[in-house]
This record gives sequence, C-alpha cells and structure tokens, in this order.
Amino acid sequence: MADIGIFFGTDTGTTRKIAKMIHKQLGEDLADKPLNINRVDIDTLSSYKMLILGTPTLGEGQLPGLAADCQAESWDEFLPQLDDADLSGIKVALYGLGDQVNYSSEFVDGLGELYDAICETGAELVGEWPADGYEFDDSAALLDNGKFAGLVLDNDNQSELHSERLAGWLEQIKAEFGV
Ligand SMILES: Cc1cc2nc3c(=O)[nH]c(=O)nc-3n(C[C@H](O)[C@H](O)[C@H](O)COP(=O)(O)O)c2cc1C
Repeated sequence: MADIGIFFGTDTGTTRKIAKMIHKQLGEDLADKPLNINRVDIDTLSSYKMLILGTPTLGEGQLPGLAADCQAESWDEFLPQLDDADLSGIKVALYGLGDQVNYSSEFVDGLGELYDAICETGAELVGEWPADGYEFDDSAALLDNGKFAGLVLDNDNQSELHSERLAGWLEQIKAEFGV
C-alpha cells in the first residue's frame, strides 16, 4: 500500500479522468490507484497517511449524489461517514471541478462543502489554490484568505489550463505532504 490514497466522486467521469492524471504524475510508489468514493468506506480512507479527494459540483451548487440527479451515489451519500470520523494525523488535499460560466454564482460550491466536512474530522488540510485566472461571481470554496480550498479545474471552459495547473499544484502539495 502506498502512502497517498486518491478518491473521487463523479457523474460524467471528468473528475475520475483528473484523478487518473494525478495518479500518473505522482507514480505508483507514492499513490495507490484512484477509487470512486461510492466503492469505499471511511476505514479505507483513514488507513492512508495522505489523501487527495476530488469532487465536481452538480445540481445547484451541490456535491454529487442522488439528490443532485447523478446516476449513482457519491460524496453526498458518503458524507455521513465523515461526521463521526477522526482523521487527525492525516494530511488531505482537495480538488474540485466546476463551470465558472454557467454556474458563476455557485462556482465549485461542492469543493467548499467537502472542505468544511473534512475540517470537522481533525485532518490537516493542505493544497489551497489562488483564485487568480478564474472569473466568477461567488463560490463557497473561497476561504477567508481569498484562496480556494483546493485546486480548481474548469473542464468546460479552461481545459487547456489543466496540465499547467495540475503540475503546479502537485509540486505544491508534494512539498506540503513532505514527499
Ligand atoms: C446538471 C449540472 C449541474 C452543474 N452545477 C454546477 C454548479 O452548481 N457549480 C459549478 O461550478 N459547476 C456545475 N456544473 C459543472 C460540473 O461541475 C462540471 O461539468 C464537471 O466537470 C463535471 O464533472 P464530472 O464529469 O466528474 O461529473 C454542473 C454541471 C451539470 C451537468
């Protein structure tokens, strides 16, 4: 088992594709193969030293899941397991997918919801990301310091920036993870 676990929620597969890119760039020695969050339980997550968790925002600023009209269960159904979880001692980095043009007032809100839930578990959050280069009206993923709670990728409007953003963020979180 590697030190880093990668878990994602998705409806149409983009967040899975990004998880695979992250895994490829980190390599087998550092990170295990990404898994859909609807196929694991909290014990699987808490067995890692470090976690990378990804989510799209769906519905109206929601986490993916049946309530957001997704095809399968996802983060929304997993969230209750985080309620009683103790992830202290684990470092967690988050990434979120969203669409800043069509959902400008609720851009990557799901990332903000996931951040709040993970904060409650006592885990150490890393991977904050500057909000420069995105145009939107509002986002629940913005922290008090003006940064996003994790890496933000807009596959609908800025997919050409994925490689550069991913490379920069992975360098950053590797330093924060100490790997
Ligand atoms: C029905 C629907 C609702 C969406 N709602 C939001 C939203 O509220 N905020 C946002 O930033 N993006 C929203 N998006 C954009 C998705 O987050 C984006 O397309 C993402 O890449 C999808 O990821 P997936 O392929 O992993 O499901 C929505 C997309 C769809 C199709």
